[in-house]
This record gives sequence, structure tokens and C-alpha cells, in this order.
Amino acid sequence: MSDTRAFPVPRACPFSAPREYADIHVEQVLLPTGRRAWVVTGYEDVRALLADRRLSADVRHANFPALAEGEQEVGARTRPFIRMDPPEHTSYRRMLLPEMTVRKARAMRRAVQRVVDERVDELLRHGPPVDLLTQFAHAVSSTVMCEMIGVRRSDPWFRRITGALGSQQIGGGRSDARTATEGLDALFDVFDGLVAERERHLGEDLLSRLIADHLHTGLVRRDDLLATVAITVVAGRETTTSMIGLSVLALLDDDRRLWKQLDADPTLLPAAVEELLRALSVGDSIALRVATEDIRVGTVVIPAGDGVIPLLAGANHDPGVFVDPSVVDFTRERRSHVAFGYGVHQCVGQNLARVELQVALGTLVDRVPSLELDAEITDLSFRHDAIAYCPDRVPVRW
Ligand code: HEM
Repeated sequence: MSDTRAFPVPRACPFSAPREYADIHVEQVLLPTGRRAWVVTGYEDVRALLADRRLSADVRHANFPALAEGEQEVGARTRPFIRMDPPEHTSYRRMLLPEMTVRKARAMRRAVQRVVDERVDELLRHGPPVDLLTQFAHAVSSTVMCEMIGVRRSDPWFRRITGALGSQQIGGGRSDARTATEGLDALFDVFDGLVAERERHLGEDLLSRLIADHLHTGLVRRDDLLATVAITVVAGRETTTSMIGLSVLALLDDDRRLWKQLDADPTLLPAAVEELLRALSVGDSIALRVATEDIRVGTVVIPAGDGVIPLLAGANHDPGVFVDPSVVDFTRERRSHVAFGYGVHQCVGQNLARVELQVALGTLVDRVPSLELDAEITDLSFRHDAIAYCPDRVPVRW
């Protein structure tokens, strides 16, 4: 057992894949749960696996490679569609897709800008130093997720949802079965109450449309609607929080090299967000799968029944595809990264995530141009075993 590598692997540099990935192509690793699973790096192999119908995302498989004890148990009980296979998965995904188009995300831009501006106003009123992770990244992503389902900050439901979100941990190294179950129950209770209220007063928001078009027509059961909304809000909040927090650190590191570039040329923003998504790959080990048949990857055959984790940071740092992959280069020739995954489970929230990241980072550079780190990067700690790789704090001043 001792020569099996422990996974997740910590990063030497928070803005790049773990160095060890350079030595891994297909390898069996030891998970925190004591189980083993295969991890795969390499752009082509990761994409091929994520598109391979012989890999299942069904959390009920015995060897599902959950990274924490609580994750599989809670997943099997609540069955969010991210942990299902087609055709079951397809019906839930189809329910959400019309709500998650580029057009819908663009239409939310104004609301996202208002949310971000309010939070920057609060930062400026508060004054330095602040922890940008809690006082900005977390606050922005939670508020945008609430706006997405039609709950504004002034609405009493806002506190209930963010309270339940704050108290729960449904994945990653810090969750166990009991806390994950309690947290998720609290979140489901809140959404249950919100759905009941919306049923009485349908509005123009995403949740009202799901209720009218799917719940009231009998296309979806109430519990399944709650699970779908809950996983979308949770997936959207944790990933975006880490992306905003880690991106700010990356921009301010190295004598603020990247921050100055964005300040000098704001038109770089969309390319900068894509490059940060690639380089930081916060959702490195989100895509958890099980082989349902023997699958050959290079010279290795992954036996049917084994857990498989195609590593997104491993693919996004493949030196054969991205030259000098650990360098964050906003002018890099555009190649499609897999930070949002690939295949049937590719992130449904990616259009909104891009808008959030562009507005959050662009507004900080614009309105707080003198922002700088209030600590050495080497003094900060990072959660390498959470659902999304994330700093514990982002101390800044201006
Ligand atoms: C920078 C931010 C984000 C990153 C890096 C990210 C990453 C990912 C990845 C890698 C997957 C694929 C998982 C798999 O293959 O098993 C995924 C799926 C998903 N994401 Fe995101 N995500 C982000 C933001 C969001 C947002 C804002 C939302 C909600 C609005 C969201 C909702 C979802 C959902 C519901 C799925 C499951 C899709 C399915 O199984 O069909 N994500 N995300």
C-alpha cells in the first residue's frame, strides 16, 4: 500500500497543476476514503475518457471514487443529476439547458454587475485590510446563485439560503457523512419552502419556470426538482468562489504582473478569464467516474468496476498541447481547455461562470486599481482536497 500515491496531490504552486502530474499518465492512487482509483492526465486521454459512454458517473457504483466519506452516501441518497448517466441524466440536464444559454447569461450581466458593485462599495466602505475570499468572492458567488433562482439580497429567502449553504459541506476532504447529510437536509428544507411559496406566486425567474413547465406538468417529481436546483446552486457557488479568489491571488502575485496587464488593457479580460480557467483548473478532480467495461488507456487496461478520475488540471497542463503550461499567458494562442469538463456532463453553468468572472475581476481592477496582497503567497494555505481547489483566505489591502 505504501508505494501507492496518495490522492489528491497538493500543489507546489497554487497556480499550476501538481508537479507530480508530469510523471503520471495512468496510475492507481489511494483516496482519502482508503479506496483506490485510477487517475489519468494528458489532454487527449482525458477528453476521450470524458466522452466515453463506458465510463459511468453513477454515484451508486461500489467503487465510485468519492474523495470524502460523506460524498457517496449523500450522493446516493439525493441523486443529483451530475452523478447520473444518460438517459436519466439527460432529462434533468435538458430541464436546465434552456436556462443556461449564452443569451440568458448575457441577460444576467447587469444583475451580476449590480451584485459585484454593491460588494465593492462595501469593501471600500470597510477599508483595508480585508479577506477578499469571504468579503468578496464568496459573497458575490452566493448572491449571484440566489439571483439566478430569483432571490434578491433584500428577500428574506436570501438569508435562509445563504445560511443553509454556509453551514453545509457536501464534498471534499473536510466533509463527513453526518455533516454532509445535515447540511444537505437544511438546504433541501429551505428550497422546499421556497418552492412552496413560488407555487403560490409564480414569477419570471428560473425557479418559477421550472415549477410551471416541469413540476406542475408532472414531468419532474418535487424531490428531484429540489435536488436539481440544490446541486446547481452548490456547484455554481463553490467553484466560482474558488475561481475568483485564486484568480485574484494569481493576478496580484509576481509583483502584480498580470494585474498591471489587465489594468493597461481591459480588452484582454475575456482571454484572461479563459487562461485563468485553464491554468488554475480549480475543478481538477470533480469528474468522478467508474469503468463499466475494461478500458485501455495507452498501455494500461483499467478493469471494469474500478473508479477513474480524469484529471482536468492534468489535461490543461499537457505540455504537448499548451506550451509552457504553468505560465499564465493572456496572449496564448487559444486552445480549448477542459476546466468545465467535456462530454455529456460538461458544466451547464459555464456561460454564467464566465460572466461572473469577467465582471468580478474587471470591476476589481477598474475600481480598486491599487489592490495588492497583504501577505506572502508562501504564508497562505490552500484546500487541495476540497471540491474545488481554493485558498483558505485572500488577504488584500489597497
Ligand atoms: C468557474 C466556475 C466553474 C467551474 C470550474 C465548473 C466546473 C465544472 C465541471 C468540471 C463540471 C463537470 C463535472 C463532471 O464531468 O462530472 C461541472 C458540471 C456542472 N456544473 Fe459547473 N463549474 C463552474 C461553475 C458553475 C456554475 C456557475 C454553475 C451553476 C450556475 C454550475 C453548475 C454545474 C452543474 C449543474 C453541473 C453538472 C452538469 C451535468 O452533470 O450535466 N457550474 N462544472
